[in-house]
Amino acid sequence: MMLHVRQVLTPEEVRQARGILSDAPWGDGRITAGSQSAQAKNNEQLPEACEATRAVRQLLLRGLERHSLFFSAALPKQISPPLFNRYGGSANNFGNHVDSAVRYLADGAGRVRTDISCTLFLSDPTEYEGGELMVEDTFGEHRVKLPAGDLVLYPGTSVHRVEPVTRGFRVASYFWIQSMVRGDEQRRLLFDMDNHLRRLRSNAQLGETDPSVIGLTSIYHNLLRMWLDV
Ligand code: NI
Repeated sequence: MMLHVRQVLTPEEVRQARGILSDAPWGDGRITAGSQSAQAKNNEQLPEACEATRAVRQLLLRGLERHSLFFSAALPKQISPPLFNRYGGSANNFGNHVDSAVRYLADGAGRVRTDISCTLFLSDPTEYEGGELMVEDTFGEHRVKLPAGDLVLYPGTSVHRVEPVTRGFRVASYFWIQSMVRGDEQRRLLFDMDNHLRRLRSNAQLGETDPSVIGLTSIYHNLLRMWLDV
């Protein structure tokens, strides 16, 4: 499933994040790439341990926490600490690749299976030319370029790339999620069901106590129980 999650960060939080990142110690992105993706990767990124990374990471994790649509779609068990990259100038693209299946956290803090890949856009689309995230799946190729503060999540299994940025700079955060529900198909069904349930619950003629709403809610939770790994 590919999903556009709107306003994970408010415009004010985006401004704050951009302020912190503007004079952060950006470096060559290739140092953290595996041998295969090092050939495709040509961007800049921030060191994991620097102050700017830590500060904006907090902002972002708070934004994710309060976003119920994000939670419903991702059902996160573990979120890898968000990282930051920048495309522009001569370091302006990332060719086709697949993300590694496992993300090893810094300081031996554990592992995250990369069920879901996420990109949160921090630059507004008007600030740069190119820089689309291109994601391939069985329905073809998807072109993603979102407003600052918005996020896209897509299956970690997809081949994807970032098109060359030919004007300006594209700053983004990226991270991975190990979901409580490993299978993309099951997660999608649960997400759809949750959305329909929300709609039914907010329907004035039905509401929370309608017997069918209660029944369907129990089916949702029982499916979760069947598929969840907590
Ligand atoms: Ni990638």
